[in-house]
Amino acid sequence: MLLVHYTERLSFLNMSQIRKIAVFTSGGDAPGMNAAVRAVVRTSIYNNLQVAGIYRGYEGLMEGDFEELTVRSVNHILQRGGTILKSARSAEFREKAGREKAFAKLKSSGIDALVAIGGDGTFTGAHLFNKEFDFPIIGIPGTIDNDLFGTDFTIGFDTALNTVIEAVDKIRDTAASHNRVFFVEVMGRDAGFIAAHAGVASGALAVLIPERNMPIEDLVERLKEARRQNKTSNIIIVAEGGKSGNATEIAAKVNELAPFYETKVTILGHIQRGGSPSCFDRNLASRLGVASVEMLLQGKRDCMVGMINQKVVATTFAKAITDKLTIDPELIRIADILSI
Ligand code: F6P
Repeated sequence: MLLVHYTERLSFLNMSQIRKIAVFTSGGDAPGMNAAVRAVVRTSIYNNLQVAGIYRGYEGLMEGDFEELTVRSVNHILQRGGTILKSARSAEFREKAGREKAFAKLKSSGIDALVAIGGDGTFTGAHLFNKEFDFPIIGIPGTIDNDLFGTDFTIGFDTALNTVIEAVDKIRDTAASHNRVFFVEVMGRDAGFIAAHAGVASGALAVLIPERNMPIEDLVERLKEARRQNKTSNIIIVAEGGKSGNATEIAAKVNELAPFYETKVTILGHIQRGGSPSCFDRNLASRLGVASVEMLLQGKRDCMVGMINQKVVATTFAKAITDKLTIDPELIRIADILSI
């Protein structure tokens, strides 16, 4: 006997007259962007919509570099780092003329709505575009920096942290073997989320972040105290946007004031942006990808979908780009307690 299982499709009520959605990734790529693209494509098709991919972010949008996507176009990308749609930072889209070009391309391709995956630069452009052309756009936070208001975590942050931790653990082995101090510079642009979280997770002696000023003299004091406590190796995590300078500059100053330690500098750089996304990032990207399409169908626009306290929440682009997500002071307190 043939048993047929019927799975009822509960597709969303399309209250918005949207027939075709396009998705793009923009700004710095982040692990998990592909998982978000996959979720947007499959949720669109599940809801009987057409879906297109736009290559190279706003650059491709202005040039009409679009491709129709199917369920199979996004096979086996869930686990891949980078973005199959490529990414770019566009100066031209910041100009009105660039945005007019983009609007014309969307109209001629029959695209009714956009899903933009990126960070604050991407959403600044999306907000302007929505205002000028009344065009529905929903954003998905994809950046390793975690610096967006309206979500507890951005896609890629967790994977980047795991990459940093793996690297610092390895650095620790050699630091301990030679009694050295290592200054490890991490990304984050002008935010210290990566540094603060990685600092706690790697047992750093100090974390230098833009959100907190730590004078070099205080850092040297910590090193002297560490020496008194017979600590032979030390890791200091430096956020790239820190106010006291970059890791190389800070190491040089510390060298002058604390010559008893040999110092080394490691700049982790773009390694932090690559690699297969963590389970956390894949789940986050999948949930937000589904939510972005469902929100468009409900008539929402000009906002970013994020996760706050494990719930999907929409925050206006205006708020997401202007309000500041702060580093939990408890994390800094913990870092200080545990570094003694
Ligand atoms: O925003 C992500 C990020 O990796 C930042 O942490 C870093 O400052 C910047 O992008 C680097 O940008 P690019 O890859 O263009 O050099």
